[in-house]
Amino acid sequence: MSTPLRIIREKLNITQTELANLMGTTQATVSRMEAGQWEPNASQVQAVLAKSTSLGVDLSVDDFVLPNMSVSPTNGTSLAASEVGFDHRHLLGIQDLSPDEITFLLDLSNIYAERNRTADRKMSLLAGKTVINLFFEESTRTRTSFELAGKRLGADVINIAVASSSIKKGETVIDTAVTLNAMHADALVVRHPHAGAVQLLSEKVNCAVINGGDGSHEHPTQALLDALTIRRRKGHLQGLLVALCGDVAHSRVARSNIYLLQTMGARVRVIAPPTLIPAGMDRLGVEVFHDMRAGLADCDIVMMLRLQRERMTGSFVPSVHEYFHFYGLDYEKLSHAKPDALIMHPGPMNRGVEIDSAVADDIDRSVIHEQVEMGVAVRMACLDVLTRTDPRTAP
Ligand code: NCD
Repeated sequence: MSTPLRIIREKLNITQTELANLMGTTQATVSRMEAGQWEPNASQVQAVLAKSTSLGVDLSVDDFVLPNMSVSPTNGTSLAASEVGFDHRHLLGIQDLSPDEITFLLDLSNIYAERNRTADRKMSLLAGKTVINLFFEESTRTRTSFELAGKRLGADVINIAVASSSIKKGETVIDTAVTLNAMHADALVVRHPHAGAVQLLSEKVNCAVINGGDGSHEHPTQALLDALTIRRRKGHLQGLLVALCGDVAHSRVARSNIYLLQTMGARVRVIAPPTLIPAGMDRLGVEVFHDMRAGLADCDIVMMLRLQRERMTGSFVPSVHEYFHFYGLDYEKLSHAKPDALIMHPGPMNRGVEIDSAVADDIDRSVIHEQVEMGVAVRMACLDVLTRTDPRTAP
């Protein structure tokens, strides 16, 4: 049963401008929505529902007329119909997420991906909120992507890099976090070289914490952006055969992707020399291959991983030249995968080490740039859902 938006607004006792701010749109758009010419999209509905909950006003998703945009063009699942939402305070890893929660995040990300392709991509959903990027490790694309995501949503975004932080002066990670917390951040995006450090930090602060990559552990937004890229191209994740190739041992991207893809019903293979496969990989339910040609046979997705030399404590490969010969993706090895297999890489790429330059730049097969584009959309969705609770009222 739907209720006119004007009545919903009156129930909330707010002005058109306030509703526009809440929905991240203009007052003119709200006016058109109230006149029935336009309908709110799923993320706007979610924002109004969150507001009604905080005001104690009885409103449900059924009160809204839902537009086609709430139905993901790629998998036909209704975002609002799932009614799962995302009931986590932080995003620390994919391992904790259910298939419905992943679908919810991907559907919302897809809405942002479409919106980002229009001229009307600047929103005010997070106006007045502060996002702090706290990076204890180098990063270009992840940090920039979170910064852009926060700014597109209207938040104030501050970047703190370790080189310029007090950590260099001896302050502990926890002290830094507590200091930032006292500044009333609404979300902290944290990257750290040690597995588990982001979780530890999340236990010390009131605001939402997003893991931007912790050691060789997890990198949840990367797996989400990879999944969104795949889903938009292939229409679904269920039943796909995905090969993760290269330095699996040191890769948080591999770990998060394994959790996500398996949760969503894809089959995962890892292909690497024995020295770069961590112990216990087979217990995760993946198939392990040491030969690229055998491992790539019939794959729908070929995801290459960078040799993470900064995390290696010894010599894991005889030489870069030899590594490329056996494990570098070139057209000959690629010919063993399905003819329409997509080539992916989280970046930064080492051309001529794990991937041949021509393959990386192949506009018909490589979706590496699309991964970067989807990264902004996924991070907008994550910032959106995780900042719906005011840190001051959080339990
Ligand atoms: C990845 C990372 O940092 O884990 N990169 C990224 O987030 N874009 C992968 C890598 O560094 O190889």
